[in-house]
Amino acid sequence: MVSNVTFSPIVQFLPDPSRWGVDPSPIPALLAGLAVILTSTFLLRSTKSDKVYDLGGIPVFTAWNFFKNRFDFFRDHIRKSGGRMFRFRVFQHRVIVVTGEQGRKIFLNDKSLDMGEGYKILSGRGPSLEDIDKNADGSHDARSFINRLLLLLRKDRVADVLPVLLDDLHSRMLDWGTKGKINPFKEVYDLVFQMTVRMATCRELAEDKQAIQDLRKHYFDMEQSRTPVSALLPWFPGPAKKLKAKASLDLYILVMKYVTMRRKAGAASSDPIDILITNGDSDEVIIGTVMGIIFAGIVNTGVTACWVLLYLGSNPKWKERVMKEYNVLVANHTNALSTEPLHKRLASIPLNAWEDELPSVDLVIRETLRFTVSGPFLRRNIQKDIVVDGVAIKRGDFMAYPTFEAHMNPDIYSNPDSFDPDRYLEGREEDKKETFGYVAWGAGRHPCAGMKIAKLEMKLVLALMLLGYNYDIVDEAGKYPDILPEPDRNDATKAQPLGAPCYLKFEYVNK
Ligand code: HEM
Repeated sequence: MVSNVTFSPIVQFLPDPSRWGVDPSPIPALLAGLAVILTSTFLLRSTKSDKVYDLGGIPVFTAWNFFKNRFDFFRDHIRKSGGRMFRFRVFQHRVIVVTGEQGRKIFLNDKSLDMGEGYKILSGRGPSLEDIDKNADGSHDARSFINRLLLLLRKDRVADVLPVLLDDLHSRMLDWGTKGKINPFKEVYDLVFQMTVRMATCRELAEDKQAIQDLRKHYFDMEQSRTPVSALLPWFPGPAKKLKAKASLDLYILVMKYVTMRRKAGAASSDPIDILITNGDSDEVIIGTVMGIIFAGIVNTGVTACWVLLYLGSNPKWKERVMKEYNVLVANHTNALSTEPLHKRLASIPLNAWEDELPSVDLVIRETLRFTVSGPFLRRNIQKDIVVDGVAIKRGDFMAYPTFEAHMNPDIYSNPDSFDPDRYLEGREEDKKETFGYVAWGAGRHPCAGMKIAKLEMKLVLALMLLGYNYDIVDEAGKYPDILPEPDRNDATKAQPLGAPCYLKFEYVNK
């Protein structure tokens, strides 16, 4: 199994240096689009090479499948190419898809390959200040974004906020009642959204349920606006572009309200927006940072948290093992005689213990991500020409690496379709069979900057679910499903299970 989870490195949301002037009338845009299609079809014909399989065909149709059903696109063409590298065109852009250990090493390590440029064009960006302000100054670049992110995620800050995250989760979970059925892709996703807002903004926003709901809606609209048309023809003034522009503006206004509020409040608190204000950041930079963190934070973490619960729900042996581990954690770090509610007891567990004393949970998260992260990672060669396995990657070319090529590779993972978290343990260490055999948290030049907080958030959700509730996976009729859920790997952002919806039937037990 593989995924649908897009990697949303933050570079996608940063200001785009190329400024598209949008004509309000669709006619010139359509004519321009037609010209690009014809040019790319007739002038950029495919070439033959035995080192790389060339898809040829009409670029716009090939590219349509790339944007529409990305997982199927890569799987089918890798099959057809016999596992070789292949290439295709998105209009005038040439995209080379690398495979194999050598390809992976160069893709993840070579300094000529730029992550931001790759995602910006081949993925369609997330919220960008330029959708609101065409004169955005571009100073909010990827490196300074990561520096701000690391400032906000400093260990002492995370340790301080940990009890507040547990309070937030408890308060949201109370809304479920004591017994019932939830759609994890709504309710658990919302838990992660809540924690992300807490980690990225200020208490006034994090404690206003209506504002969070509005924020969630704007992000949802943003996701909806990422269509093949919006990615292929970003200048086309169609519904997707309008939706994205509106959602971006709504997001901007909403976050701006809280930045202004915090600027006006006399004393600075330890909340993220205040930290950025104290850092001397402009409104634009603060809003870009907040929007970027929320986008990076929710998509992957929210979806993974849901799938961890589902995989545990369908693997009782692992659910039992993980529960025992949580019980030991609680026994070692909290007062057994305490009459405090669970979330308060959990708050006394130190951050280090959450990070280091749940090894089975780490294994389960690792194995879940192997299934749910399938890529592709994207890059653009912005420097010198390079060669991968005898194939030239010219300056300006794009590259893609479909992560399932490693994660589902039977030469790396035995029975890659089976859920087997022990495969990473000493003695087996299947992920180490090849360089970069496991890339779900990124690797090489761009390891995930949010891995620690993402893992912590998932562990908190799991703690409250496993220790506070009994839960089972059920179908629409309330029965254990005949076919266990599997992620729709073509659904880039929502990652809902394929086929019939699936739910978690729960009962509050306060174990
Ligand atoms: C389960 C959750 C997550 C997963 C699976 C994940 C996965 C990844 C992967 C695979 C990459 C590298 C992509 C590539 O090489 O093309 C990446 C990069 C990145 N991630 Fe995450 N991520 C998660 C959560 C987060 C969170 C919560 C944040 C921030 C709050 C974050 C921030 C970033 C940033 C800033 C980068 C870019 C790093 C760079 O440019 O060097 N991620 N992530």
